[in-house]
Amino acid sequence: MGKSKLRAAILGVTGMVGQQYVRMLENHPWFEVTTLVGSRSAGKLYGEAVEWIDSYEPPARIMNMPVKVAEPESEDVDLVFSSLPTEAAYQLDTKYAARFPTVSDASSYRMEPDVPLLIPEVNPDHLGLLEVQRRKRGWKGSLVTSPNCTATGLVIALKPLHDAYRIRKAVVSTMQALSGAGYPGVPSLRIIDNVIPYIKGEEEKVAAETKKMLGAKSSDAISPDPMGVSVMVHRVATIDGHLESAYIETERPVDVEEAKEVLRDFRGKPQEMKLPTAPERPIIVMEQDDRPQPRLDRMAGSVPGMSTVVGRVRRGLDDHSLRLTLLSHNTIRGAAGNAILIAEMMHELGYLE
Ligand SMILES: NC(=O)c1ccc[n+]([C@@H]2O[C@H](COP(=O)([O-])OP(=O)(O)OC[C@H]3O[C@@H](n4cnc5c(N)ncnc54)[C@H](OP(=O)(O)O)[C@@H]3O)[C@@H](O)[C@H]2O)c1
Repeated sequence: MGKSKLRAAILGVTGMVGQQYVRMLENHPWFEVTTLVGSRSAGKLYGEAVEWIDSYEPPARIMNMPVKVAEPESEDVDLVFSSLPTEAAYQLDTKYAARFPTVSDASSYRMEPDVPLLIPEVNPDHLGLLEVQRRKRGWKGSLVTSPNCTATGLVIALKPLHDAYRIRKAVVSTMQALSGAGYPGVPSLRIIDNVIPYIKGEEEKVAAETKKMLGAKSSDAISPDPMGVSVMVHRVATIDGHLESAYIETERPVDVEEAKEVLRDFRGKPQEMKLPTAPERPIIVMEQDDRPQPRLDRMAGSVPGMSTVVGRVRRGLDDHSLRLTLLSHNTIRGAAGNAILIAEMMHELGYLE
């Protein structure tokens, strides 16, 4: 018999992100879902409550499990994945974190100075903030947050370029999928035959989170990276996968072919540690003129949905600039998948004991 698995709760389990947790944690080597938490669906079986949208068959074991209301004081689990809406997360994430290691996809606490905002390949050292968090809050558990789904793909692509060329400015225009708005999300009569050039609060979040994740950790805080980040968001009628066009200006001169190598060669701690949900290549570079495309490329890579796909890498206005297009699966790497990878890294580093 191997070691028993850690028991996990999923908060917001019927939602767009919750459904990805259910899919990705089925047969996970270290974690087992034992508690399902919802609001309107509480009291029903998961199979009765969920509007399952994936083409993948939902796991039978979970379909027959009951959904319950949140009871942070009496839950009996080893870790918590929270995919609650922002307001509910304000109420509940810290209550769970007081008792359990909690990884949250909600934006509610991402910018708190003692809360790590983490992409395991990009800023694993920011986990060290948990010591400050424990000291300050006296929690038995901990709270780590997973970033905004648009910031996630962007930061994965920017990180190796920033290390190689020092980015001074990044100007980004996004085409964001419908599942990013949760279920049922944007009404069909507003989005079919349309593009909406506004998502409340999104531009500010992407800029601030990018700077926090690329920022430097001192003994007890993160100083945001000084790069300028300007974001223009659009909601488009794709189902999954946020596409982003970026124009970057750098301190050091950039050679396009070398920049592609820098992106292709990028690896992080999850790959080094061989974590179960780590893709072999965090960044996949495509050479075709018309890629990446959401429908074709959002599930690319060894762990579908976990790699950022970059294409159209080309020179900007001068040799201190670069243009590129990137694609990142919003509910997988942009939420559940990244949170699971965070928990796997915490497990290996002894933070879940
Ligand atoms: N969608 C994305 O691409 C994405 C990416 C990154 C981060 N996020 C963040 O992740 C969170 C979830 O997003 P989503 O798209 O999955 O939203 P969603 O589809 O609207 O799902 C929300 C879930 O939360 C549950 N819920 C609501 N209030 C609750 C409460 N008081 N107690 C317990 N459960 C409650 C709902 O359950 P009932 O149906 O039972 O009421 C539902 O399962 C949000 O904070 C979002 O900003 C989303």
